[in-house]
Order: sequence, then structure tokens, then C-alpha cells
Amino acid sequence: MTSVVARPLTASIEQSLPLEEADYRFLRDLIHARSGITLGDHKQRLLQGRLQRRLRSLKLDSFAAYCERVRNDPEPEMAALLSAVSTNVTRFFRESHHFDYLAKELLPKWLAAGRTRLRLWSAGCASGEEAYTLAMVLERAVRESGRSVDALILATDLSIEALEAANAGVYRVDELTDVPADLRTRWFMRGTGLHEGEARIRPELREWIRFQRLNLLERWPMQGQFDVIFCRNVVIYFDRDGKRRLFSRFAGQIQSRGYLFLGHSESMAGLSEDFDLIGRSIYQHRPGNMA
Ligand SMILES: C[S@@+](CC[C@H](N)C(=O)[O-])C[C@H]1O[C@@H](n2cnc3c(N)ncnc32)[C@H](O)[C@@H]1O
Repeated sequence: MTSVVARPLTASIEQSLPLEEADYRFLRDLIHARSGITLGDHKQRLLQGRLQRRLRSLKLDSFAAYCERVRNDPEPEMAALLSAVSTNVTRFFRESHHFDYLAKELLPKWLAAGRTRLRLWSAGCASGEEAYTLAMVLERAVRESGRSVDALILATDLSIEALEAANAGVYRVDELTDVPADLRTRWFMRGTGLHEGEARIRPELREWIRFQRLNLLERWPMQGQFDVIFCRNVVIYFDRDGKRRLFSRFAGQIQSRGYLFLGHSESMAGLSEDFDLIGRSIYQHRPGNMA
């Protein structure tokens, strides 16, 4: 997780407002209904910690008061509640074999075939590292092909805080260790003075990406279909029905024979008939099975 979105659980456990069982169950059920994120029984202290800052900023002195407010008028609070509860851990070139597959198999094949339009989606992009990694890989493939391509990466998340960090594109230098040296030199500007130890993404790379808030459980405004969808380490928090519904929606939003990448501990086994497993957590849309 980048320093920009790092959140201390609480200043001190002693000072933290207690979250009672009934209030926990209310919030847990609401979070599940609105985001698909499942919090087990052992996550009560975690949620209590994550929401302390939110209660303080709303000047509320108890979780009972917070729950009453949310119960009476949930909408204005949903984005902040879901932001507080989401886990945004990520890093550049995470599960690098996925980016190798894209760089060595998919992009050369498509570019050699004369494709002029490419659409990629980082669904659950957290603080942006996945989307910037995709942009570095995509830009290099397009540049090396010498072709002119209309290429765009849509990067979405439900967390406002994470998206702010993604938009800012500023990371700690020690978070760049997995970025190959040539790409680090090309795409990151080292901070000086007060910004020593930071690195900012160059605007030319940022131009390949459109960051947007989107809750995967709500309506998707996108019209076109994607060649590639990365949805990694997101459905890990969803129950089976939530995963099944999401995979079925992805099938409707992906090109025939398009590719869906999941996280290393995630699987579609028994949850979708629309995709074939073709590599390590890499799925291909099955032709003739368009949703
Ligand atoms: C652990 S991060 C994964 C980031 C990145 N994909 C990776 O693999 O490194 C999971 C992200 O999914 C987002 N997320 C969880 N539920 C979501 C939902 N219903 N809609 C959109 N984003 C969601 C969280 O906000 C979080 O930023």
C-alpha cells in the first residue's frame, strides 16, 4: 500500500469508540449488500478501527449515533463508508507473470494483426500501481510496433482515497523496486528537497489511463467492450453469489476471446461457464458464449 493511502487503525486503542455487536452486524450487512465485501465475525475490531477517523470527522461520539445516521439516510455516507472499509494493498508489477503474458503474447499478436483499437480495464485499481504498470507495458509494446493505436486503460475503484492517490501518481521510491530499471528511468520523476524519497509518474504515461470511481456492484456506464480486464485481488472479499454475478457481467463487457486476469488466490472454478482457464489465473472468454 502506498504511503498516500496508508491509514493508522487508531491513534490509540484506549481512545477509540467501541463498536457493539448489533451495530457491527448492521454495518457488516450494509457493506456486504452495497459492495460485495464480506466481513467475517472476527473483523469487528478492524471495522471499529477503520471508522474512528470517519466518526471523528463527522463529530459523532458513538457508533450508535453513526448507525442511526446511516440508517436514516444511507446514500450520502456510502462512499465514505466503503472507502474506509476497503483494503487497498497493491504494488507495481504485482504477479508479474500476468504482465509478461500481456507483453510477450497478447500485445505482439494483436499489434502484428493490425489492431488499431485496444481497451484495457483495471477493475479494482486501488492506488493505481496496477494501471500504471499496464500503461508502461502497453506504451512500450505500441512504441516498439511503430504503429498508431487508439489505446486506453480504464482504471476504477470504489475507494475515493485510493483513487485520489492513483490520480496524484506519487509513490515512495522504495515502492518502485519491482519496476524494471529502464521503465523506472523513463516514467518516474524523482522528487527533491521536501519531496526527497518520492517519485512522480510522468504526465505522458498518465495520459494512457482514465481513473474513475465505480462500484462493481452498481451500474457500469461503459458502452464498449474490453480486450483485457484485470480484476485481481478484488473478488477475494466476495461471497460465491457475488463472484458468480460479477463474472457473468464481465462476460458481457469483454470482447469475444478477450482475457480476464484474476489474483493468485482467486478462481472461477464452478462459478462461470463463460471463460476457459488458459494460464495461471488467466481466463479467456469462450466464443459463442456471449452473455
Ligand atoms: C487489494 S486491492 C487490489 C488492487 C489491485 N487490483 C492489485 O491486485 O494489486 C482491492 C481493491 O478492490 C476494491 N474493491 C473492493 N470491492 C469493490 C467493489 N465492489 N467495487 C469496486 N472496487 C472494489 C477495493 O477498494 C480495493 O482498492
